[in-house]
Amino acid sequence: MLEIKNVSKIYGQGTAKVVALSNVSFRVDEGDFIAIMGPSGSGKSTLLNVIGGLDYPSSGEVILDGKRIDNLDENDFVGIRRNKIAYVFQQYHLLPSLTALENVMLPLIFCGLEKEEESALDMLEEVGLGGRTEHKPSQLSGGEQQRVAIARALVNSPSLILADEPTGNMDQETGREILGLFQQLNKDGRSIVMVTHNPDIARHAKEIIILQDGRIINKIDQKGGNRKDVKEDSTRFSINCDNTKHSVV
Ligand SMILES: Nc1ncnc2c1ncn2[C@@H]1O[C@H](COP(=O)(O)OP(=O)(O)OP(=O)(O)O)[C@@H](O)[C@H]1O
Ligand SMILES: [Mg+2]
Repeated sequence: MLEIKNVSKIYGQGTAKVVALSNVSFRVDEGDFIAIMGPSGSGKSTLLNVIGGLDYPSSGEVILDGKRIDNLDENDFVGIRRNKIAYVFQQYHLLPSLTALENVMLPLIFCGLEKEEESALDMLEEVGLGGRTEHKPSQLSGGEQQRVAIARALVNSPSLILADEPTGNMDQETGREILGLFQQLNKDGRSIVMVTHNPDIARHAKEIIILQDGRIINKIDQKGGNRKDVKEDSTRFSINCDNTKHSVV
């Protein structure tokens, strides 16, 4: 469904030049669950931004269902956000003055879709928040706020969900609950590309892509329950595959 071909992203010029992505290529197929890992500054958010139309690549192509989307302007990208790609952020980005229900209804109102309240209520049920619809973000826990953000991402029935450290602000238990929710969405047929620093989360993905200095330095296929022991400290990853230890930094 999605192909990232030789994508590079360069910020700034001269001495301020930063190569945030360098010749990154991979595919996201229907039903995939890909975790993106790598040290801070390795280009993870930049990669997600380029896929999600929040930033342009300097070179390379992003192809969604056979069509290039990397060169679309904001107006043309609206149609894609409407029903193909949704974004979930670490900081939730909910509007504080609106209730959970109103936050989830927002994209539907923007898109001029009907039955927005009914659809939003369904989504809040789906993420386990049917009993919190009238709460404002400040009255919800971090995990609950992230569920609202996920419900908001889902109302337009996207086929691909991009998530940038969605469990980054949570304790372990809440992070596991949110991971469980993403796994359920994946089982229901949505493809997921998730940036995470947490090896416990990444080992539940079907594939792990590891970035360093803007390059993919490793791809680990975990399909068929073939999970690896992924360990991380902030700058070093080591992955135990079939008793062979590959140190990748
Ligand atoms: N708008 C920008 N202008 C200039 N440089 C940028 C910009 N955005 C990101 N960068 C640089 O690009 C590199 C990649 O940044 P990015 O945010 O993608 O890293 P990351 O892997 O998401 O890191 P973290 O784990 O800390 O979130 C970094 O060196 C960063 O300083
Ligand atoms: Mg980031």
